[in-house]
Amino acid sequence: MSFDLERVTSQLVTGEISWSLHYEPECESTQDLAREAVAGGAAPGWTVTTDLQRHGRGRRGRSWTAPVGQALLFSTVLQPPVDVLPLLPLLAAVTVAGGVELSTGAAPELKWPNDVLLNGKKLAGILLERPPGSLVVLGVGLNANQSAPELLEGATSLAVEVGHPVNREDVLAAILNDLSNAYERADREGVDWILPGWRSRTSMLGKPVTFRRDGVLQHGLAEDVGIDGALLMRTADGSRLSVVAGDVDLVRPD
Ligand code: BTN
Repeated sequence: MSFDLERVTSQLVTGEISWSLHYEPECESTQDLAREAVAGGAAPGWTVTTDLQRHGRGRRGRSWTAPVGQALLFSTVLQPPVDVLPLLPLLAAVTVAGGVELSTGAAPELKWPNDVLLNGKKLAGILLERPPGSLVVLGVGLNANQSAPELLEGATSLAVEVGHPVNREDVLAAILNDLSNAYERADREGVDWILPGWRSRTSMLGKPVTFRRDGVLQHGLAEDVGIDGALLMRTADGSRLSVVAGDVDLVRPD
């Protein structure tokens, strides 16, 4: 199994981020490779992809697994403009969805804080980590070519949804180009477009959601997202809660 980096590079549009692409046939986690690269002085735009992770990480201490060569698994080093930082989880989801749509025609929906769904099932997960210093490592695990039996319950893949295998290289190039465009737009216009961009791709606002905070299940209505990226919720007793991504486990939009 291999990954054609040249096919990705040839599609990248030169912009604000200078991409430097790397491929490892297998690794523990692309997040670890990116963190090591940062420790070794890698610049923003350093990106690594793999066919197999032995210890892929998900959010909130979970693991992330995928069969060899079927998923798009990558981590990229970013230095977002400072005003973008709080909105980066939402922006990352918007750019992954945008890249998927551009490269395959499938239009994903977003679930706060940064799940990417197709037809109500999880297509991609996003993990943001802050190694020491000012850089951020963005990790994306996207179900590209898994068949239905290879997917966990509640998950789907691009191949399942569009009915044919997709080219992982094309999807990666489209996501990186969308990220680059987002940087430039933030420089030009500020960050006011990010929340509307996220809202336009979600169907969870106005709907009941259940989340777990400190082990306790709570129910409420998802009203909006705030300028700090928090989910604004109305609970059953009428009080308003601002829910920060690291604090809670969103069990489900009901
Ligand atoms: C989630 O829990 O939804 C986030 C999953 C993020 C998985 C990706 S796969 C590439 C990168 N390397 C990792 O170890 N994790 C991220």
